[in-house]
Amino acid sequence: MSNIARHIAIIMDGNGRWATERGLKRVKGHEKGAEVVRTLTTYASRHPEIEVLTLYAFSTENWKRPKMEVDFLMRLLKNYLEKETSTYLKNDVRFETIGDLSRFSKGLREQIAKTKEATRHCRKLTQVLALNYGAQDEIARAAQALCAGGREITVESLEQTVESAKFGPVDMLIRTGGEQRLSNFLLWQSAYAELFFTPTLWPDFTPEELETLIDEFKRRQRRFGGI
Ligand code: IPE
Ligand code: IPE
Ligand code: MG
Repeated sequence: MSNIARHIAIIMDGNGRWATERGLKRVKGHEKGAEVVRTLTTYASRHPEIEVLTLYAFSTENWKRPKMEVDFLMRLLKNYLEKETSTYLKNDVRFETIGDLSRFSKGLREQIAKTKEATRHCRKLTQVLALNYGAQDEIARAAQALCAGGREITVESLEQTVESAKFGPVDMLIRTGGEQRLSNFLLWQSAYAELFFTPTLWPDFTPEELETLIDEFKRRQRRFGGI
């Protein structure tokens, strides 16, 4: 039986380089990147296998960037959710997040809550945006919650408590932009994910390339420690 790409997670990297290569400001790359998010989410919602698409949009380390770029990303996200809620509904896509939202502005948090609420009945696909997300932070928060509840820390108890666990294990983890590292993304949920690294910069990533990677995924042998 061939592998099923139920949960695909993507580190969307390369927006800045895409823009710089064209003599544009880095933020133009983020704008183009947001369009690719829309195209790929729509594609995934029509795909027979994909149930969850988790996208790394902002890491716990990305606050280190210049304030102007961080502010732009926050505005882009708010506008995107505002404008795209109708697209989520049209394509039957449920919007979810992972990550610590408490550091975002009230306005952004309200928009996130609004889009989640509006799309909670949608069933074709769950799109999970990782926002102020760091896997180490997520695991630490889960361990803290278990401690506070007087519970033992085991693989099983952590498995039930890490925020991203509710979306199930990652089948394919893709990173665009050529770097071959995880940058603190989904360390727990990717324990047995198949990894894919492509040099394509995120603004140039297409559904066709995703299909090529899924084809490769189908040919891989997943053993999960067995033989
Ligand atoms: C990824 O693209 C998007 C975010 C981290 C928000 P980058 O902005 O990291 O683009 P490069 O890696 O500098 O090209
Ligand atoms: C990872 O990309 C984070 C996101 C795509 C949101 P980065 O560009 O921040 O990662 P590093 O700094 O190259 O590891
Ligand atoms: Mg980068």
